[in-house]
Amino acid sequence: MEPAALIDSFGRKITSLRISITGQCNLNCFYCHNEGQSGHESQMSSGHLVNIIKTASKLGVTKVKFSGGEPLMRQDFEDVLVAIPKFRDVSATTNGVMLAKRAVSLKSAGLDRVNVSLDTLQPQTYASICRCNKDIHSMVLDGIHSAVNAGLTPVKLNMVMLKGINENELEDMMSFVRLFNGDVILQIIEPMDFGNYGGKVNMDAIEKDLGSRASEMIERKMHRRRKYLIDGAEVEVVRPIDNSRFCANCSRLRVTADGKLKPCLLVNDNLVDTVSAGIHELETLFYKAVNLREPFYKG
Ligand code: 5AD
Repeated sequence: MEPAALIDSFGRKITSLRISITGQCNLNCFYCHNEGQSGHESQMSSGHLVNIIKTASKLGVTKVKFSGGEPLMRQDFEDVLVAIPKFRDVSATTNGVMLAKRAVSLKSAGLDRVNVSLDTLQPQTYASICRCNKDIHSMVLDGIHSAVNAGLTPVKLNMVMLKGINENELEDMMSFVRLFNGDVILQIIEPMDFGNYGGKVNMDAIEKDLGSRASEMIERKMHRRRKYLIDGAEVEVVRPIDNSRFCANCSRLRVTADGKLKPCLLVNDNLVDTVSAGIHELETLFYKAVNLREPFYKG
């Protein structure tokens, strides 16, 4: 018998799994929410990772996104990709620093596409955001080129809009994206304040400007995300803050690096530990986690 689909008590069907495969990261971006984790958790074995993903597939999940920390910190990432079942969409969010070397192997292991965090085209600004050497920036640009060449497309560039830091770079970022003739999409993200920085960007003003210049605007149901097409540059706007539609359409279940199912990014007291569970118990734990889901921003 087919197992019952994962539907929470608010009628939201879970079709997407966002799995952190390590808490470790080789950067230290000042605004990072670290997927709501401390970053010092122990890390799941690749076998357990694969079991979780197989369970998700069996229960109707069609999309998997790998995140971290920095997922490429795990040398066995390709092994995990090879071992998991087929999904409609398998992606990873990476800082791109180590992507140039791995793009081809990731693609052949089954990764469909990547999101690369790139807040700025200025090496010095990059160094101050990510608290690293400014030479790292060119490694990320190499990573983006390699990802495009390897077919990890569309490559989405995650640009967190930071007041007084990169706000003035939107035009430059759009010009950069245009160089790739549609293989690269710019995704501008409203920062979520986790208490470690100040100053809100005016996302309304940015969207209004994009809207007035766009030849086309598409609104995705999921998360009320808007996409603008501006002289060939595709720009998506992600606004999670106070967005009840972001929550109402949330189809995502998270998994922490140490193997806990996490019903909501913004809630930390309802995690469901799976580490000692075998493949058969995992199903029950998935249903348990899904039953704990509640929209954070209610309509
Ligand atoms: N606000 C918004 N997005 C964030 N990210 C990390 N921290 C934050 C935050 N405080 C997102 C960025 C980055 C990805 C790894 O996580 O989009 O690219």
